Amino acid sequence: MNTTLITGASSGIGEAFARKLAARGHNLLLVARTEDKLIALCNELGRSANIRAQFVAMDLARPYSPQRLFDETVKRDLQIDFLINNAGFGSMGDFATLDPERELNMIDLNVRALVDLTHRFIHPMRERKSGTIINVASTAGFQPVPFMATYAATKAFVLSFSEALWEENRPHGVHVMALCPGVTETGFFEASRMQKPPARTSQTPDQVVDTALRALKRRKSSVISGWSNLTAVEMERIVPRKLILRAVGAVMRPYIGRESKGKERG
Ligand SMILES: NC(=O)c1ccc[n+]([C@@H]2O[C@H](COP(=O)([O-])OP(=O)(O)OC[C@H]3O[C@@H](n4cnc5c(N)ncnc54)[C@H](OP(=O)(O)O)[C@@H]3O)[C@@H](O)[C@H]2O)c1
Repeated sequence: MNTTLITGASSGIGEAFARKLAARGHNLLLVARTEDKLIALCNELGRSANIRAQFVAMDLARPYSPQRLFDETVKRDLQIDFLINNAGFGSMGDFATLDPERELNMIDLNVRALVDLTHRFIHPMRERKSGTIINVASTAGFQPVPFMATYAATKAFVLSFSEALWEENRPHGVHVMALCPGVTETGFFEASRMQKPPARTSQTPDQVVDTALRALKRRKSSVISGWSNLTAVEMERIVPRKLILRAVGAVMRPYIGRESKGKERG
């Protein structure tokens, strides 16, 4: 059965993808840790959209989870023709004072699981000469972000990785695209134990998903959601990197906790 696999589908952007794609008739396999939310969403979408919605509740940051998830799709006889690697979280603060386990866990989820799942599912897609992969990056991936250093670096990885795969896979009929939202109204900041950083505007998850689905039609390699985010990224391209670092640092500094502030070197 042709199926769209969405990671991080229990809330925010992933849930918005699930709702929009269900309305377009996609069968869904939804993945996140919170089983209750996945059950409720699958029941609702299965009833209202006349599609098959299934879930796997798992922590994708665990090393064997991507293998287990792939095996589960084989066991359930699902043909994953659309993969959305969306699960992710962030952190904010002076890197030296942040919990190193949590930073490494973030790399495991935002980078390792995404690479692993992409590698596993891209093979059958290439054999069929058709398939789509969206990897959710961020506008934070376009420049280093002091006080969100690890998170921004994971998203720079996702952006670079996805754009490279876009070119590699064009002759094989597989479309890989990076989706770069800016600040979006989801549970991300709470889950990431972050204060919402300053933003010119924030978007809704629906707006982000609409941007992604329009960009897929144009077979883009990456897309920035929201015109103000796009303008900011374009302007940053012409400014020296050191200036950007200082400016972003100055904007972020007031948002970090008192504790890490005190430990900053002058
Ligand atoms: N919100 C923003 O401003 C923003 C901006 C740019 C990029 N993004 C990116 O957008 C993506 C989606 O985030 P969101 O804003 O929609 O935040 P969100 O509402 O917190 O959603 C994150 C999703 O990932 C799942 N998840 C978290 N840790 C997981 C794990 N270890 N294993 C499996 N699933 C896990 C969460 O479900 P469970 O907790 O149930 O596991 C949830 O479904 C992330 O990659 C994020 O970096 C967000």
